[in-house]
Amino acid sequence: MIPRGAEQTRLVETIFSRIAGHYDLANRLMTVGHDLWWRRVTARWATTLQPAGGRAGRYLDVATGTGDLALALGRARPGAEVVGLDLSQAMLGVAADKAARSQGCRLSLVQGDAFYLPFPDDAFDGVTIGFGVRNLPDHLAGLREMTRVVRPGGRVCILETHWPGNPFFRAVYGLYFCRVLPALAPLLTGDAESYQYLVDSTLDFPPAQKFLALMAEAGLSRLIHRPLTMGTVALYIGTKTPR
Ligand SMILES: C[S@@+](CC[C@H](N)C(=O)[O-])C[C@H]1O[C@@H](n2cnc3c(N)ncnc32)[C@H](O)[C@@H]1O
Repeated sequence: MIPRGAEQTRLVETIFSRIAGHYDLANRLMTVGHDLWWRRVTARWATTLQPAGGRAGRYLDVATGTGDLALALGRARPGAEVVGLDLSQAMLGVAADKAARSQGCRLSLVQGDAFYLPFPDDAFDGVTIGFGVRNLPDHLAGLREMTRVVRPGGRVCILETHWPGNPFFRAVYGLYFCRVLPALAPLLTGDAESYQYLVDSTLDFPPAQKFLALMAEAGLSRLIHRPLTMGTVALYIGTKTPR
């Protein structure tokens, strides 16, 4: 069972601060390296629309964690300014080390809460969130806040875990995700609670049609739902309706 509200936010911060040091390795192992490709696809969708005036653009990655999606945004649009925001100072510390090693990257990191983004309205050409939205106790409030800070006509791109549509693969994947992964992850990382949380929060996430309806309610249109890697993750894309 996942606690709700401020208690969930506290739990999430504790968990991610604890696993920051082995988060990237666990990601690569659990996804057999696919996670970097998912983030590249997300970054491409967020940056394909040319910002006005020939600018390289300004992009925000919410719940940036160790910064892989923020760095992918910078690579997808060289010269763009990228901001990565996260609750966990420990995750941001790992992101800062990676940004320092990444040449030509204009990434700044901000500690903050997705529900209270410290930016004015329409401040970014695109906003992304990768494997972060399911950690937000109120999905609609999180979507509204991301929509507020993207410019009209800009995209909000959400990458999230997802249940495969094919019933056979869904059953096999369910076995891996709900039984094998929680047993394997503590052996790799020494941390059982965190990976049980990954399973519980994925089971708790609304089905695609319901989530798309929330995106529409938050002020996004031209909605796209794109399952990736046999539907084990999905990309949700929305465009802020111009006023
Ligand atoms: C599963 S990690 C995803 C990290 C990264 N986006 C990625 O693609 O690997 C979830 C991240 O969401 C952050 N987070 C959870 N709730 C948040 C909130 N309310 N505001 C900002 N960050 C939050 C956590 O600290 C954690 O770093």
